[in-house]
Amino acid sequence: MRLAVRLCLPALWCVFGGVFSEFSSQLSLTGKWSLRNSNRSVSLPVQVPGCVHSALQQQGYIQDPYYRFNDVSYRWISLENWTYTTTFSVPASLRLKRKVLLVFDGVDTVSTVSLNGIAVGTTDNMFLRYDFSVRDLLKDGENVLEVRFLSPVLYASEQRKAHPYRVPPECPPEVQHGECHVNFIRKAQSSFSWDWGPSFPSVGLWRPVRLEAFDALRLVQVSCVPLYNYRSAEWTVQVELLVDAVQPTESQITVSIPELGSEQTYQAKFLSGKTKTVLVLHIYTKKEVKLWWPNGHGEQPFYNLTIQGFQDLFSSKVYFRTVDLYQGQIVGTPGLGFFFRVNGKPIFLKGSNWIPAHSFQDQVTPAVLRNLLQSAVDANMNALRVWGGGVYEQDLFYHICDEMGIMVWQDFMFACAMYPTEADFIQTVREEVLQQLWRLKSHPSIIIWSGNNENEAALATDWFDIPAPQRPTYLKDYVTLYVNNIREIVQEEDQSRPFLVSSPTNGVESEQEGWVAADPYDPLYGDVHFYSYLADCWDWRTFPRTRFTSEYGFQSWPSFSTLQPISRSEDWSYDSNFSSHRQHHQDGNQQMLLQAALHFHLPNSSEPLRRFTDTLYITQVMQAQCVKTQTEFYRRSRSEAIEGKGYTMGALYWQLNDIWQAPSWSSIEFGGKWKMLHYFAQSFFAAVLPVGFEDDGTMFVYAVSDLSQELKLRTVVTVHSWSDPDPVCRLESDLVPVPAGSAVPVFRRPVAALLAGCGRCTRLTCLLTFRLEDAGGSQQGPTNHHFLCSPKDARGLQRPNITAKVQEDERGFTVSLRSAAVAPFVWLDVGSVPGRFSSNGFLMVSRNVTVGFNAWRPTSVAELSASLTVTSLTDVYRV
Ligand SMILES: *[C@@H]1O[C@H](CO)[C@@H](O)[C@H](O)[C@H]1NC(C)=O
Ligand SMILES: *[C@@H]1O[C@H](CO)[C@@H](O)[C@H](O)[C@H]1NC(C)=O
Ligand SMILES: *[C@@H]1O[C@H](CO)[C@@H](O)[C@H](O)[C@H]1NC(C)=O
Ligand SMILES: *[C@@H]1O[C@H](CO)[C@@H](O)[C@H](O)[C@H]1NC(C)=O
Ligand SMILES: *[C@@H]1O[C@H](CO)[C@@H](O)[C@H](O)[C@H]1NC(C)=O
Ligand SMILES: *[C@@H]1O[C@H](CO)[C@@H](O)[C@H](O)[C@H]1NC(C)=O
Ligand SMILES: *[C@@H]1O[C@H](CO)[C@@H](O)[C@H](O)[C@H]1NC(C)=O
Repeated sequence: MRLAVRLCLPALWCVFGGVFSEFSSQLSLTGKWSLRNSNRSVSLPVQVPGCVHSALQQQGYIQDPYYRFNDVSYRWISLENWTYTTTFSVPASLRLKRKVLLVFDGVDTVSTVSLNGIAVGTTDNMFLRYDFSVRDLLKDGENVLEVRFLSPVLYASEQRKAHPYRVPPECPPEVQHGECHVNFIRKAQSSFSWDWGPSFPSVGLWRPVRLEAFDALRLVQVSCVPLYNYRSAEWTVQVELLVDAVQPTESQITVSIPELGSEQTYQAKFLSGKTKTVLVLHIYTKKEVKLWWPNGHGEQPFYNLTIQGFQDLFSSKVYFRTVDLYQGQIVGTPGLGFFFRVNGKPIFLKGSNWIPAHSFQDQVTPAVLRNLLQSAVDANMNALRVWGGGVYEQDLFYHICDEMGIMVWQDFMFACAMYPTEADFIQTVREEVLQQLWRLKSHPSIIIWSGNNENEAALATDWFDIPAPQRPTYLKDYVTLYVNNIREIVQEEDQSRPFLVSSPTNGVESEQEGWVAADPYDPLYGDVHFYSYLADCWDWRTFPRTRFTSEYGFQSWPSFSTLQPISRSEDWSYDSNFSSHRQHHQDGNQQMLLQAALHFHLPNSSEPLRRFTDTLYITQVMQAQCVKTQTEFYRRSRSEAIEGKGYTMGALYWQLNDIWQAPSWSSIEFGGKWKMLHYFAQSFFAAVLPVGFEDDGTMFVYAVSDLSQELKLRTVVTVHSWSDPDPVCRLESDLVPVPAGSAVPVFRRPVAALLAGCGRCTRLTCLLTFRLEDAGGSQQGPTNHHFLCSPKDARGLQRPNITAKVQEDERGFTVSLRSAAVAPFVWLDVGSVPGRFSSNGFLMVSRNVTVGFNAWRPTSVAELSASLTVTSLTDVYRV
């Protein structure tokens, strides 16, 4: 319910804190609880927040769940019913307040809660905050709080049994070793297994628990959303207060942003119970309001907003920005456009997709989050899609994205399945959507909500073999859930960012077609997900030229140092049981080698361990090169359309991070180590980038620029021979204007003519590097390269016999490399010493190269020298 409030003056974005201790007395119930299984054969202490698996491991009942085959060995844990218990005493001052609530910020997932033997409520949605009124149940002295969990696997299967018809997929593919019917439980969908992750259906109190007591008012949630009125060219800040009142109460509330000179006092009336109140603060400043910009496009300034009128001052950050998603026509092209504008400026989204950083969310620490998000920014990303099969991330995730300028494409948590739509399910989803909107909408980083992952495509292209006569049922369920419920709530609650029903989708075109388009992958509309593992990824013709690609990728294996702690020596071969077990994508291991073999000799060392580590390396080389080619294709397609296809404005590869140590599409390994792909991303997402490719025998170089000002650039192409690091010859283009935010051709030359003018070069003996220079001769963006043949066919490519020397000076550690030959894909690895090189996986076309190493813990020249290995392409096979 919403109360009108007398409006006075001006206003902003808030980023609020969660809990407002100011207005109520609180008693935290986090910390040590006790845990037992159903027959009490297991009984142990458990940390809250936390989960059963983490507790069992911490207490030594089980090994590391990620070790070897433990995902299968520990299946019993999620088939059990577990009980959490704690005892506590409550100060009289709290107990005597007029209202006392037992608040759970997150319960995973199905439970019955009882206090002093009396049931107070049940839970069945991991994504909800629950509060139960418990004042009259509290006692003097000891109180006993018990949360009895039902096995999530059992619950899901019972829900399925009670449902009148099949809601596919019933079970995951066998290769995932997973559990069935996850779509019947509101819980991280990947927790029952995924094609990159294990089945660990977690159980527990995964967020804090507390008592909150008050006599008059409790501020449950605050959100502050700046809105820009294009007509009046004025900002307002919509401040929403969700207040729980013991009885109807009137209160004077003052909202202000001192730095903008905006302040306004409201006379607010709160009915008893929970009331939502909207206060609109107008911003009448003469000064320019400082805007929040995505990474690479400006700063992320904020203002402090304060709210007075409750017991204590409430204060929060507010960021001003607008975002819209253009889906109108583009002159001269069929289909529709699809691009984001932030503060009116079209922005090319560069980045990746985010999955849960651990099966057990209690182990996703602030340090883990910061490291991953910093890695995204350091690779010049400006966007991440929080994928719909995981969790709505913790507050800190979005705070960091706000600070770093990372745009978030936020899915609602539905993925790769049909979903039930009976009343109970819809009701819990509605509550989930409302709560998550209120929690998250103050974050400027979130630029779009999206209803689900791939469910439009699943219906349209019939992933689940639904017989034609039954199709209308599933279509109706689809529209009911995502359109009539989720979309409706989002449109009511949040006017500050766009909404899409699915990803991928044709957007407004899908809407025209009744919300499920005939081909949601149509490159002329909306976003596209595209995967093809066996087609030659070096050939850009195999990629659809889309408006926006929100998923695409290739698998690779993590490095040996990441696998070693969770495996044994018998596991260390590419065809071991372990290597097959960890691969959750059907035929994934073979696909990687088939793709790699298109251009590289496969490792064939006679030494088994060496052969294994070389194979891990070659999968990373393949992945890095494939994703580079595809991403560069999208970036150079931003300013042109070929047969109507193009004007691409987004490239989010699948996937940024890993949930465990296994082969996957990630560019960062579990633990934070960068794969070769992530080092490549640093270059292929650079603000200014030369992209080289061949079309029909002609070599092109495009200059891609995300900058806000025009540049004048020339291309400098250097021809190298595979057999000698000294360049063979050099060509330069004329200076060409490169407008802000564009991709323009700056160099074109038939390859035959290019080589003919360059000594005795042929496609097999030579390769190209190229860079962009401005009029003054300063290099803009990284140096890039183009191979004229597959390295496996190259003539003159030798073993480079690279030697390396680790040194330390005032800037930190450096590694100086010396090579006797041209060396592709030079990979430095210091094993388990955590840290990051300034550059890695590079093409070495000079005799000397020095790279830095930024260590994440104290180390030494001796330790680094002892752990350092250097691998380049020719080192992995014996000639
Ligand atoms: C108790 O339950 C566990 C796990 O389900 C089972 O392995 C064990 O045999 C049971 N113990 C007794 C005494 O029933
Ligand atoms: C868990 O509880 C359910 C429902 O009470 C029961 O059917 C099931 O047997 C229990 N499982 C175990 C392992 O005790
Ligand atoms: C916001 O408030 C904090 C703490 O009160 C202060 O340190 C900071 O300078 C303020 N920032 C702005 C932009 O007003
Ligand atoms: C590999 O797994 C198969 C099937 O589970 C089993 O029969 C075989 O003994 C395992 N081999 C090794 C070396 O562990
Ligand atoms: C690298 O060392 C091998 C073996 O000593 C030698 O045959 C080869 O010529 C060396 N490579 C270069 C480029 O010098
Ligand atoms: C490369 O480094 C070696 C020793 O590390 C040095 O002797 C040599 O002069 C360097 N060459 C160039 C071209 O810098
Ligand atoms: C290893 O592979 C290379 C390249 O395919 C080949 O030339 C060589 O003969 C192979 N060596 C062995 C021992 O199989």
